[in-house]
Amino acid sequence: MSKVILVNKENKIKESYFHHLDLITTTNYLGKEIKLEKETYDAFLRLQKFLLEQGIEIEIEDGFRSVLEQQKIEEEFLNQYGEEYTKKMVASPYTSEHHTGLAIDLVLKKEKEYMVENKDLLSQEEIWKKIHPVLKDYGFIVRYPKKKEQITGYSYEPWHIRYVGVVPATIIFDYHLTLEEYVTDFGGVLVVNKDTGMTSRDVVNKVSKILGIKKIGHTGTLDPLASGVLVLTIGYATKLGKLLTSYEKEYEAGVEVGYLTDTLDKTGKIVKEKKVEKRIDYRTLLKSYEKTYFQEVPIYSAVKVNGKKLYEYARNHESVVLPKKEVTIKSISLLEERNDSFQFRCFVSKGTYIRSLIRDMGDSCSEYFTMSSLIRTKQGNFPISMAYSLKDIENNHFDILSVEEALPNIPVVIVDGDILKKVRNGVKLENNLKIEDKVIFKDKNNQLLVIYQKEKNILKIEKMLYNKCN
Ligand code: DAL
Ligand code: ZN
Repeated sequence: MSKVILVNKENKIKESYFHHLDLITTTNYLGKEIKLEKETYDAFLRLQKFLLEQGIEIEIEDGFRSVLEQQKIEEEFLNQYGEEYTKKMVASPYTSEHHTGLAIDLVLKKEKEYMVENKDLLSQEEIWKKIHPVLKDYGFIVRYPKKKEQITGYSYEPWHIRYVGVVPATIIFDYHLTLEEYVTDFGGVLVVNKDTGMTSRDVVNKVSKILGIKKIGHTGTLDPLASGVLVLTIGYATKLGKLLTSYEKEYEAGVEVGYLTDTLDKTGKIVKEKKVEKRIDYRTLLKSYEKTYFQEVPIYSAVKVNGKKLYEYARNHESVVLPKKEVTIKSISLLEERNDSFQFRCFVSKGTYIRSLIRDMGDSCSEYFTMSSLIRTKQGNFPISMAYSLKDIENNHFDILSVEEALPNIPVVIVDGDILKKVRNGVKLENNLKIEDKVIFKDKNNQLLVIYQKEKNILKIEKMLYNKCN
């Protein structure tokens, strides 16, 4: 189960959560019974050990709380401190993240004394300054940070740490986010190096699980047979899908000669076979395909004809006229050749199917060619050297690109005043900036991100990526 669960004043915990919760029971420094989610407790023990080596002693004051326990705490606070203070410090039943088992209230031990009271803990900022930056390495975040009270709804609580897992905790720390902001506002582009055997959707699901973010898309599908660059869009950046797919791509492909399959690659069913008898001049053949031509879309593709995907026609054995699309093979070169197989590299326009290109080349020399391997080595600005494997991502060795970084060819203009107002509302603008194609407008507080497109002499909104202004 993902540890990125948002429980706050607006998002109450569901009863069903309690049925799946794996709690362990331990006792704290006072002998009081403490319950915590298992992974959270293990991470805490590692954190505690590390801090002790630095001369800092932490203990658990509280962990999991049932709805009844939370109710009792709220009542005590209301009686003792009144409503205003309680609202800022204590969550009402069902809205406390202590119900998740993933939250811990820490106490500090200093000069053999335990500090438990909020006011004493708040006075220990120099110790918290040492603790807070290392929390991410153990998967924890400061859940109620300073200057974010408007977002979290609670006062700064340096002692309340929340387990989310190392990868989300690192992003939340690096970008100075709250959990609310991470779940609802975070976005960017992640370039993945896909392994063979997985679908593009498998990759999205895996990354979604690691990041704890549901809204993730992929641009330009890679079949299970293929590996290489798969560009993922996260959060609001999912709106960039089409734009990122529209770039040119580079591939390295392997071809087996002598048979043809229904899917045009070697995972398909063989439909035609003929042994190669003549010597094929692959170099010349490839060169003759350095051109723009109308390519038939493969039947095993998601392209729609009359509202139905082509592979559905294939599955139902229905006949359909395969559409043709104009594609450009910008460059193509031979990498290796044998009598009945070869490998090549090509750089192609968007929408080019490499398995169709391979079939077409076979047709040209009256042989059957079938794609046996495919590596996407580049998509737009992203070469494979920039791509992270799922292992890298799991091990927290990756970077998420901002929209501006992912679109380095589009100029970025920071706007304010009247222009900001117009851009925020998606109003057309005169092209005083002499923009040649597209422009990214943003405000100085990172509350707005919009792409505009030049059309004749004016700029028109193309995509409102992010608009937090009100
Ligand atoms: N102190 C935090 C907000 C809670 O009561 O859950
Ligand atoms: Zn707490």
